[in-house]
Amino acid sequence: MDHIKSPGENLPVNVIVRRPCCMKNKEMCAPPIPHEIRETCKELILSEDQMRKIMERLTDDINKGLSKSRHDEAVVKCYTTYVQDLPNGTEKGNFLALDLGGTNFRVLLITLDGQNFDMKSKIYAIPQSLMLGTGTQLFDHIAQCLALFVKDLNLQTEVLPLGFTFSFPLVQEGLTEGRLVRWTKGFNCSGVVDEDVVSLLEAAIARRNDVKIDVCAILNDTTGTLMSCAWKNKNCRIGLILGTGSNACYVEKTENAERAIPGKYVAEKPHMLINMEWGAFGERDTLDFVITEFDKDIDDNSIHPGKQIFEKMISGMYMGELVRLVLEKLVNSGLLFGGKCPSELRKRGKFFTKYVSEIENDPKGKYTNCREVLAEIGIRNVTDQDCENVRYVCSVVSRRAAHLASAGIAAVLNKMGEDNVTVGVDGSVYRFHPHFHDLMTEKIGQLQNHKFDLMLSEDGSGRGAALVAAVASQKR
Ligand code: GLC
Repeated sequence: MDHIKSPGENLPVNVIVRRPCCMKNKEMCAPPIPHEIRETCKELILSEDQMRKIMERLTDDINKGLSKSRHDEAVVKCYTTYVQDLPNGTEKGNFLALDLGGTNFRVLLITLDGQNFDMKSKIYAIPQSLMLGTGTQLFDHIAQCLALFVKDLNLQTEVLPLGFTFSFPLVQEGLTEGRLVRWTKGFNCSGVVDEDVVSLLEAAIARRNDVKIDVCAILNDTTGTLMSCAWKNKNCRIGLILGTGSNACYVEKTENAERAIPGKYVAEKPHMLINMEWGAFGERDTLDFVITEFDKDIDDNSIHPGKQIFEKMISGMYMGELVRLVLEKLVNSGLLFGGKCPSELRKRGKFFTKYVSEIENDPKGKYTNCREVLAEIGIRNVTDQDCENVRYVCSVVSRRAAHLASAGIAAVLNKMGEDNVTVGVDGSVYRFHPHFHDLMTEKIGQLQNHKFDLMLSEDGSGRGAALVAAVASQKR
């Protein structure tokens, strides 16, 4: 029988055979996005001019936040953290850490010994009823989890130093006290705003009276991330969170932190970590030129309307919902799923942010994850075109988030004016989204001229809290 030649069989080995489209790999076969869909998404795509304007406005806001005389009118508050020493590798001992403010609440035991580090941790759920209940209930729950954890490890007779990562805006006058300015993200417990959170925790521990804890420091997750990365990499000068919320901190000259209260150590040390609370950026119309109907919808229906505008455009608490709103609009205009919308897609919060990462993780032209996600929300038998459109919406929303965060980091790098700054990053969006890192590296490089790199934090909040606690307990 004659041998039937397959395409390219007699060609020299180094000649690349282009396979006809759709034969083996579908790379070239992703269907084009219809014009009407691009139009609907147009406002979610930021131009470079817009990004530069965002950088300028953010820089203005940072300067206001740092200044004594203009702080009150500032939106980006730039709180002093009283963390002034970066780790030097000599930190030693056992430390407890609490981490409250992301999706999970964690209790950790961290052992530091030179460059060695060991960690035991446990995750506890914080039900929504607690996030929206009274402060006393919340702190009693935290103290209970802490006591269970300590007893499990049989450490109840030791006085353990503790670092408390509390990821909300705090006004601090030292390392061991911090008054809550306001709740953000999904929390809104009564009786905590304006109170010293360390005192509330200590009171809850005292009410139980079954474990001995010495709260040595309260810190933000951005600070924890910066410290944790600085322990490994001396160039780390910025901490960034891209998770449930979004925020950044950076190393500022103490003389520029005008609101820092001169104490025993403050004036002597050249640097101070500043918790920017950049999530609040945009609250006084500064971002109106890029706000879309979808952002307005998110904001109107959030627990804290009018607040944390930048955060709502970037972070994991809102990204899935932003995508859902765009998809719903496309269905309503008959541009997706044949105009038919399953009830799940009409419900708020039913399109999770993790779906965005999963869908964008499909190789180009393949829609395995996309179909699985859509099936989960009750949409079956979808065409490749529908999948490609859904993926397009995800990529537009996540790209905008990456670009906004990039504009933020570029503004901070310019303000610092230093080369070779490492940005320590933590948070589920950065960690799990397949393109966030690359998108940010590219965009930050375009928006400013300093050399920098982005480093994923291994365990921002835990190790960072232990390091801050270690330095604080040494001072004592
Ligand atoms: C919110 C909090 C901020 C925190 C961020 C990331 O923006 O206000 O303190 O750092 O979320 O968790």
